[in-house]
Parts: sequence; C-alpha cells; structure tokens
Amino acid sequence: MRGCMLDQAQLRSAVLLSVAVLAVVAGDASSQEVTYARDVAPIIQENCQQCHMEGSIAPIQLTNYDEARRYARRIRTKVENRVMPPWHLDRTVGIQEFKNDRSLTDEEIEKIVSWVDNGTPFGDEGDLPAPLDFRDPDGFKLSGEFGEPDMIVKSESYTLEAVTQDKWFRPVTPTGVTEPRWVKAIEIRPIGKDTKTITHHVLAFLMQDEENSEYSVGPVITSDRGGSMGGAGLFMEWAVGKDGEIFPDGAGKLMLPGSQIRWEIHLHAMGKLVDDAQVELGVWFYDVGDEPKNRTRLRMFDARGRNGLDISPDEMAVTQQFHKLRWPTRLENFQPHMHMRGKIMMIEAMYPNGRSEVLSRVDNFQWNWHVNYIYADHAAPLLPAGTTLIVTAWHDNTKDNPNNPDYTQWIGWGDRTVDEMAHAWIDVTYLSEEDYEAEVAKRDAMKAQQSSGPSGSPNH
Ligand code: HEC
Repeated sequence: MRGCMLDQAQLRSAVLLSVAVLAVVAGDASSQEVTYARDVAPIIQENCQQCHMEGSIAPIQLTNYDEARRYARRIRTKVENRVMPPWHLDRTVGIQEFKNDRSLTDEEIEKIVSWVDNGTPFGDEGDLPAPLDFRDPDGFKLSGEFGEPDMIVKSESYTLEAVTQDKWFRPVTPTGVTEPRWVKAIEIRPIGKDTKTITHHVLAFLMQDEENSEYSVGPVITSDRGGSMGGAGLFMEWAVGKDGEIFPDGAGKLMLPGSQIRWEIHLHAMGKLVDDAQVELGVWFYDVGDEPKNRTRLRMFDARGRNGLDISPDEMAVTQQFHKLRWPTRLENFQPHMHMRGKIMMIEAMYPNGRSEVLSRVDNFQWNWHVNYIYADHAAPLLPAGTTLIVTAWHDNTKDNPNNPDYTQWIGWGDRTVDEMAHAWIDVTYLSEEDYEAEVAKRDAMKAQQSSGPSGSPNH
C-alpha cells in the first residue's frame, strides 16, 4: 500500500488539470445542444446496453431513441444519484483504480441530465454510432475477456414453489478435476431468467482432501451451518450484480483431483413455480506449467460487533470489527454484503506503526446489487504482516432510507433478506515476506517512474 494514495492524489490533480484545459479548449462545443444521436447514444451503448437489452437482466430496454426517450426521467434520476450503472463506491476516498469500473464520469452524467432537461432532442441521424455487437447476454460475462470457460460445474436442479419461505439448497457436485489445476478466473451464474429472478445468492465451497496449510490455519472459513471447510474453503460467492473474480498474474486458487463443490443456493420465491432452478460455475485455468506462486482465498470479514447486529426501529446503527492479518497480504477486491437497511461499508488498514488509511468505502449501498470492486493489479492494497483490517458497517433503519420496507421493525442478524448482515467478501493472497518485499519494491519503482518526488512515508 506504500505510497499508493500519493499516486492517486497526483493522478487526480493531473486529471483535473487536463479536464480544465479541455474545458477551455472545448468551450464552444459544450454550449452546443446535447443530442441523443451524438452524445447520449454512445454513453448508453457503452455503459447500459449489456444489461438493458432483450434477454439480459434489466426490466427495461435501452437500445434505441424511442426507448431512451420513454424512460428519460427515470434514466436521469438513476444516473444522477449514481444508482445506475451499478457502481456505488465513494469516489472521494480510498483506492479508485479497478479492473471492472463501470461508473460514468461527471461529464457523462452532465450530458445525460442536460439532454433530459432540454426535452430529449434526437439530433442528426448521421451522428448515430454503429450498433454494438454484444456477446450472448445469457452467457458467462468473463467470456468476453477469456473465451468460454475451461470447465463448467452445474448444480443439481431444484423445484421452488410459487409461494413459500426462503429456501437454502445444498447439493454437492464433483468437479471432475483429474490433476491439480490453478484457477485464473471464476464466475457463477444462475441458468435461465426465472432462476435468475429467484436466486438471492450462491456460495460455492471447494471441498478437497488437503492438509490445512500454514496460511489457512488462522483464517479457516466456516459457514454458519456447514462447520469448518477445511483447507480450500469458500471458492466463490455470487449475488445479483456480481460478474466474477479474476486473479492477478502470479496468484490463483488451487483445485485438486477428487474435489467437489458444495453449493449453498439461497432462493426467494417470486409467485411462480420454478421447477428447474440450477446454477453453474465457470472456471478458467492457468496453463499447466504456468502455475502461480501464491494462493488466493476468499475470506469473509465480518463487521458485526461483539453483540451482533442490534438495529432499533427508526435508527442508524454502526458496527465495527477488527481483523488482524498474520501474514503479508494483498487484497484483490472488496465486496460489501448487507441487506435492505445497509447503507455504508468501509474497510480501513491500520498498519503496524499505527498509521491508518481508508482502502475503500461504499457510501451508496444498494441491497439488490452485490457489486464486486476488483482492484487493478497496481492498486491492490499490499499490507504488511500485523496490519489490522477494520471493517465498519452502517445500517439505516429510518424512514429516510428509500430501500427500507418498514422502519418500525427491530432488525437483527439473519439469513432472510428482511434480516440483516454486515460483512465484506475479500479475496486475500497471503505472501511470503520475500514476495511481499518484492511487490513493494515493484510498486516503489513504478511510483519513482511516474514522479521524481520524495517517496511516501513507510508503513512498516
Ligand atoms: C450490470 C447491469 C446493468 C447496467 C450496466 C445498467 N443497468 Fe440499469 N438496471 C439493471 C437492472 C437489473 C435493473 C432493475 C433492478 C434495479 O432497479 O436495480 C435496472 C434498472 C434501471 C432503471 C429503472 C428501471 C425501472 O423499471 O424503473 C433505469 C432507469 C436504469 N436501470 C438505467 C440505466 C442506465 C441509464 C444505465 C447506463 C448508464 C444502466 N441502467 C446500466 C441493470 C443494469
């Protein structure tokens, strides 16, 4: 993490400066009328259509002028409040460089807002961008980057009644792996539109015969009902809005021969019988002979305090938990998990020397979106052994929270979507001291290349 924030501050001022210069140069252009054909269509194509098209996950389509005009007011609201595209990160603090950033820039938001405010003019037909060629909206999202998965593991299917309590389905499926394989990327997806609608979340535990390694002794992952998960632990968590997980070069998950996936599929009835609820896991491997050195594990970092969650009616509640890291660690992502009252989640690093810094903060949490913020390789926090990770969660049980179904209820921890949770899912890669030092040196060299200024204060 050393020096990382400095880089960002410098980067940000450089960006601000170039925006200012552009604004002066483009002074004339910006006073031009914003039109659908020239300005808005390209933004919607790039940032919205993958979900807002026939066969994809959104309830409305935004693939032509008529549709965009019909929903213009809603588009304005969602975009201005930064609810759409789903990216709910606080952009004023912490790391801002991600592999999967899909947020709009301030300029793009401004364009959409003024297009709506000016009566949604169409503009010039000739300005329309060529339609984008989308991959199968029902396919694996990561296939755009990696091609079709090397391996697909499908769960058994389940029948969910039209009206029933939430169900947790826990089948076990052999993976079929016949030799040790290192995993570069994984993605879980419910199969078919109805299953997508009723699937609240999926956990996939990797069960395989292995000794608890040194690095898994401390942070062995347990599920609430399943007990200890042994050496391999949780493979992947999926919930609506999550695409997949990608591990940086040199790190990945390890699958062994004879391994099995134990699923935990949380289903929520939708008023219609679904008799083929089934999910699948796509796996992309490293080539044999190109094995990464470091192993990544998914850990759940709880923000529940000692007394659990105790959220009074019509109140804001804050809970916090401390997690000391026993080994040098790189965090690969940040994925907050809360339910309807969840509002803010923040992770901070408190270094062994006492200095602390915010790594990431989601300040506009939307319970139906489980966005996984995947750090860019050069920005992923590098934390020395002995760092404490502080996870803080805010729940808003007041009537001001538009997602709150009933502010008169007391709320505690629980599995149902009307109960609450407060934890972050983070893929951690534990590094040897030697690898950690090498990674830090690499970052320092990168930083020195970018600027000749003095180096940041050491954290350890
Ligand atoms: C990752 C997929 C995804 C992306 C990208 C996305 N949306 Fe959405 N959008 C959804 C889904 C799913 C819903 C319905 C659930 C919800 O509202 O959260 C939705 C809901 C909406 C709604 C409300 C629809 C209604 O029924 O009232 C609007 C408006 C909207 N999106 C606009 C946009 C715009 C504009 C963009 C791009 C700037 C965008 N969305 C990008 C998936 C997406």
